[in-house]
Amino acid sequence: MAHYLKCGCIPPKRHTQHRAPDGSLYYEELMGEEGFSSDSSLLYHRHIPSAISQVRAWDLPDQSTTPNHPLKPLHLRLHDLFTIDQASATDAVTGRRLVLGNADVRIYYVVAAQASPLYRNAIGDECVYVESGSGVVETIFGDLEVDQGDYVIVPRATTHRWVPTSSEPIRLYAIEANSHIAPPKRYLSNYGQLLEHAPYCERDLRLPGEPRLVEETEVEVYIKHRGPGGVAGSVHVVPDHPFDVVGWDGCLYPYAFNIADFEPITGRVHQPPPAHQVFEGHNFVICNFVPRKVDYHPLAVPVPYYHANVDSDEVMFYCGGDYEARKGSGIGQGSISLHPGGHSHGPQPGAVERSLGAQFFDELAVMVDTFRPLELGEGAKSSDDGVYAYSWSRGAR
Ligand SMILES: [Fe+2]
Repeated sequence: MAHYLKCGCIPPKRHTQHRAPDGSLYYEELMGEEGFSSDSSLLYHRHIPSAISQVRAWDLPDQSTTPNHPLKPLHLRLHDLFTIDQASATDAVTGRRLVLGNADVRIYYVVAAQASPLYRNAIGDECVYVESGSGVVETIFGDLEVDQGDYVIVPRATTHRWVPTSSEPIRLYAIEANSHIAPPKRYLSNYGQLLEHAPYCERDLRLPGEPRLVEETEVEVYIKHRGPGGVAGSVHVVPDHPFDVVGWDGCLYPYAFNIADFEPITGRVHQPPPAHQVFEGHNFVICNFVPRKVDYHPLAVPVPYYHANVDSDEVMFYCGGDYEARKGSGIGQGSISLHPGGHSHGPQPGAVERSLGAQFFDELAVMVDTFRPLELGEGAKSSDDGVYAYSWSRGAR
């Protein structure tokens, strides 16, 4: 984010002495992207942020993927991945099950009732969508209270943890990039302000509160990082709790944005998915389809035309309402459809005719389009309905 923020206690001049009331020095840390050449923040710690007491491996759950071969569109029922008992014993970080992934992005699903350990993802930014439930994301920058429909953008290597607060477990759809995740460049001015034509603006973003200070010693931090096979895990035990930041300022920080604050762009005839884009990362985009008035040309066809996205794989996560174009396919709340490049997809049989004359669609879906093929993680293999590929055929259910 290019939007400058200042929280807590910082010195008037950067890189100068900043002292606690007892006269001791705070430790200044620059957290910056692209070396020292992009957005950054300066954080002031009570303790040395580099200190480590112990190191051990974090044995991540299965991170392997296999190609989608022979090529098929898929319907995955993510709600099948966790029973209530499993969710009760699971946290939002270590319990993530890998559904789809490639060299640019990995998509996980988790249902969790437990507080997670402290965690940082050193591979890339995370965009975590809250399907249901609520919680607090505690970060070194301060807390974000999160609720159903929130996207939570967590910059690479931000130390944080997830604490569910609702009576039901929190359901999270975690999009983990190998790059940064940001608003599309075409929404931004030369200096990073969201422009008038963007479907959301800075006022819609929820920012961290005051930094959380915790006094605790010998604390574990779980780190996901690049390693053998692409993704590896380590645990650092640090002498003092990482939530020791008395103040920070800059343009790099986590934030939340609720999908209900996305103002849909509609037209007389069908608007293509780029009109629904919310974020982008390297080699992928994130779009959302929200409840909206639909196309108002007298002869409009409100559901999409069939489309062959020759350069991308498309993943739709159905997270509310009833998605018009997929009616009759078995897809429902918590489903994913994967429409891979090489297969032309569009409305299920009968959906075009049913949509004619519609004024409004009550649908909610988060879409990730990737420019490299997605492979299947263990979560995909465990939730595949096995029949979706044939759902456009005459006689299919
Ligand atoms: Fe599509």
